[in-house]
Amino acid sequence: DAPISVRTLSEALGIKANDLLRKLMAMGSMATINANIDDELAVMLAMEFGMTLDVVHERTAEDDFMQAFAPAAEADALQPRPPVITILGHVDHGKTSLLDRIRKSKVVESESGGITQHIGAYQVEYNGHPITFVDTPGHEAFTAMRARGANVTDIVVLVVAADDGVMPQTVEAIAHAKAAEVPIVVALNKIDIPNVDTAANVSKIFGELAQQGLNPVEWGGDVEVVKTSATTGLGVSDLLATLETIAELHELKADPDRPATGTCLEASISEGRGVVATVLVREGTLRVGDVVVCGDGYGRVRALFDDQGRSIDKAGPSFPCEISGLDVVPDAGENFAVVDDVGRAREVAEARRLRTRDAAQAERQTVTLENLYNRM
Ligand code: GTP
Ligand code: MG
Repeated sequence: DAPISVRTLSEALGIKANDLLRKLMAMGSMATINANIDDELAVMLAMEFGMTLDVVHERTAEDDFMQAFAPAAEADALQPRPPVITILGHVDHGKTSLLDRIRKSKVVESESGGITQHIGAYQVEYNGHPITFVDTPGHEAFTAMRARGANVTDIVVLVVAADDGVMPQTVEAIAHAKAAEVPIVVALNKIDIPNVDTAANVSKIFGELAQQGLNPVEWGGDVEVVKTSATTGLGVSDLLATLETIAELHELKADPDRPATGTCLEASISEGRGVVATVLVREGTLRVGDVVVCGDGYGRVRALFDDQGRSIDKAGPSFPCEISGLDVVPDAGENFAVVDDVGRAREVAEARRLRTRDAAQAERQTVTLENLYNRM
């Protein structure tokens, strides 16, 4: 719904903008002629001048766009989809190594300083079913990325190094998983390190987990704790089996036949390729040539790549892929949706850019007013 500016209201009521501003000030709101005020305040303001105001908002391109995220109308259009599993945990506890072991890849070796600095999203086959994994950085600087990972996920694997136990980013990861209301499976990793798989050490860590509200099944709670070693591969198949059981329990479904919607995990400008965004499809199927709006950006999907950089022509539910073709870099964490017409897409994106600009301006204005007051 489009906001109402003081100017619009002044024209609608036939009252001078200055009179409105003075009244607003008396009501305790500082505003300028171009500032937007909310519906409630507009109605109250009109009342102050003895008028009743009916606020009717025109349907905007944004409203139409948001329709794309409405749940599927027909339950029988829903089909099973792969689970999305996010790996969270303290720095260096072995998240990427565990995922490398699962994928039989060697991402850790290619990372600078062995520190994950971005979100990686991959799909693997297990027992003939695809599973999507999202890797996140454990470094304390990356809180937002962990939150983003937790938000797109069905299950969180919380990696805890058995020689280190519950650490600050472990606690923070638990908070993200809880906020996202998703089940947590603990991978008690690095269990191969000499002298860590002892009853005393394991029960110390169980205690730390229980203190964070994660009561291990072995202690009569409901949180699966699987001992793993990314180095030897021990316990990795147990972990996968546990994840499969939980995923089956949730009967995850999506409608692959609607226009795609999903989430941008990260995006940047890439030399020669323009804006490149790593996205996770949630509903529908994304295809090369589709028109998408994502955050403040829009464009026609020029190319789609899977997690190994192979060119693909479509991506269904839970599929992580890279897209190029957006005109500006969207913020990570923004949702995207396919719209049927490029003009409509432009309309939505441009309205959003205006709003972003207005918000930035309003912020600057508030700051200036504050400075003014501070000086008085
Ligand atoms: P960030 O992404 O930086 O948060 O780290 P991470 O959690 O992804 O840890 P990473 O996989 O990079 O592993 C950190 C170090 O621990 C590396 O030197 C790994 O070789 C080592 N490591 C990981 N898993 C195991 C394990 O199961 N056993 C042993 N002994 N070492 C491991
Ligand atoms: Mg890592």
